[in-house]
Amino acid sequence: MISADGWQHYCIWEHSSDVRDLYARRCRGEEEEMTAHAQAAELLEARMRDGESVLDAGCGSGYFWHSLRRRHISAEYWGVDAAPSLIDVGRSILPEFGLPAERLQVRRIEDLDGEADHVVCINVLSNIDNYHRPLERLLRIARCSLILRESLKPGAEYHYVKDRFLDPGVDLNVHVNHYDLQEVAAFVQSYGFSAEIVTDRRAGGEPEQVIGYPHYWTFLVADRAPMHREAKGGEQ
Ligand SMILES: C[S@@+](CC[C@H](N)C(=O)[O-])C[C@H]1O[C@@H](n2cnc3c(N)ncnc32)[C@H](O)[C@@H]1O
Repeated sequence: MISADGWQHYCIWEHSSDVRDLYARRCRGEEEEMTAHAQAAELLEARMRDGESVLDAGCGSGYFWHSLRRRHISAEYWGVDAAPSLIDVGRSILPEFGLPAERLQVRRIEDLDGEADHVVCINVLSNIDNYHRPLERLLRIARCSLILRESLKPGAEYHYVKDRFLDPGVDLNVHVNHYDLQEVAAFVQSYGFSAEIVTDRRAGGEPEQVIGYPHYWTFLVADRAPMHREAKGGEQ
């Protein structure tokens, strides 16, 4: 018999109670802010005006909301994530901190359309099969800027490896991909954005082991050229 629940079945994010508990603690403000979130929020703050919308693509449980709130960044925050259990965590906790539950939605990046002033995407695309389709969606959505933090380095590498940190008895593989820095920058530029490579403050240009595999964390900050912003406005 065929079923349609393959996404959730194979999604590592649905099979780790440790991750779910960690994300719940982040939502409750019980964990130190992620360095990557602090850096992303600072990059965002430098290019945001009050009230603009921010889409957090692959938001986990939406705790980046705290990074905005703590800095008094007045944003219309939306978080989307493909893992329903992680969105449930955020929806049950973050309303206490001022985020309406409906601002967190179960969505896959590939299925998104529409617009947001700014998009952040942190530690997501490196663990899915490839970047072209989701990154295209995000670039089309971002009216002003996209702040991306992924495993980027000279020379792409694609791996599909065992995740040994899942719940007992769960045997799943995950993509650990490192995309070619210049290739991704050129892709971003081809959609009418500048592409600035920013050293990740946590990793400092060195590989960091995550679930036992190196990741080359790098920020790529994309600002849409003003002439393209107007063109986009005209299409609405
Ligand atoms: C490492 S977590 C990062 C969460 C958060 N961005 C952070 O910085 O902590 C990766 C997240 O991406 C989500 N994800 C994976 N593939 C996705 C997709 N195609 N569309 C939306 N979310 C996805 C996972 O469910 C997971 O919550």
